[in-house]
Amino acid sequence: MKVITYLIYFIASIFLVVVVGATTTATTTPATPKNSISESYFAIRTDVRKCSSCGGFFLREIGSSNKTEIYVKSLNQVSETVKESQYKFAPNFNVVVKGQITNDNTIVVSQIFRLLPKINSTINIDLEIDNFYTTINPNGNENTTTIEIKKLNSNKPSMKVKSIKNSNDDIFFIPTDWLSYKVNSAQSVYTITKSKNSKTTTTIDYMFISLPDPKFSPKVLIPVICKNETVPTYTSSAARCLIFSGCVHPGPCPFMIPVCPDGYTKSSYPIKPNACPHYSCLPSFLSQ
Ligand SMILES: *[C@@H]1O[C@H](CO)[C@@H](O)[C@H](O)[C@H]1NC(C)=O
Ligand SMILES: *[C@@H]1O[C@H](CO)[C@@H](O)[C@H](O)[C@H]1NC(C)=O
Ligand SMILES: *[C@@H]1O[C@H](CO)[C@@H](O)[C@H](O)[C@H]1NC(C)=O
Ligand SMILES: *[C@@H]1O[C@H](CO)[C@@H](O)[C@H](O)[C@H]1NC(C)=O
Repeated sequence: MKVITYLIYFIASIFLVVVVGATTTATTTPATPKNSISESYFAIRTDVRKCSSCGGFFLREIGSSNKTEIYVKSLNQVSETVKESQYKFAPNFNVVVKGQITNDNTIVVSQIFRLLPKINSTINIDLEIDNFYTTINPNGNENTTTIEIKKLNSNKPSMKVKSIKNSNDDIFFIPTDWLSYKVNSAQSVYTITKSKNSKTTTTIDYMFISLPDPKFSPKVLIPVICKNETVPTYTSSAARCLIFSGCVHPGPCPFMIPVCPDGYTKSSYPIKPNACPHYSCLPSFLSQ
């Protein structure tokens, strides 16, 4: 029995990968819908009217100059990976979906993206509707000097831009490696209004990240047991997965706790050498 217990500790300490925001426990990748050819991107707002036939969503097709909203009575996911609380009742047009409207006035979506709140700035969908892009070289490596982007819902060929600056980088304590990962791995859609060429740096105005985030997380969190009054510490991957990095004796910590801007929530995990909290500010909807 003792041997088995030690074995479990051993395995746990080597392979433990826990995830910040353990509430997101989706493990399946969304299946590709059969008819993905006719999928389109839409910006959506929730119907907040109270009546028996209300409660659906109003859609604006990305890239379309038609300002008439399309009404759907419900939104269904190809595979149920995103919690409804993370997209329903979000501020107007803070959610973009990739999906297909069916004959019975519902939308079946394969991807859901949510806007990273911007300080002092709300999105004006009329101005941005024709400025949406995504990254299409998800396998680009760290040596790639250009990044390839493609306009959403458009037949125009992709284009190469020199580099992308994310205006959200300025947000206090936001993990910038995570933002870069979301852009470079095609796990986001974003708006760009200025300079789309291979000579100057392109700036993202509004960035919508794919949900769930983190994308992969284990179903069961294995508790790490540290001995002799030590505690576990972690490091974080760019994808926001926590990786166990050893047991340490807790020591004194600097007294510096960030105050996150509106729309962001403080999050932390203990790091080496003293098991002091490593703080970051993450969009509050990730913990909804
Ligand atoms: C705009 O969209 C609405 C709703 O889909 C449609 O009824 C209307 O014909 C469209 N207008 C134009 C000019 O395409
Ligand atoms: C946001 O607006 C407030 C009040 O107008 C101002 O004090 C603050 O500096 C602004 N922040 C940014 C990042 O622009
Ligand atoms: C990036 O470039 C360096 C130096 O040329 C090389 O050693 C490394 O293998 C490259 N990385 C990838 C992923 O190609
Ligand atoms: C427990 O920690 C103390 C203080 O760091 C150390 O002196 C001692 O050798 C440790 N005991 C074991 C069994 O690791």
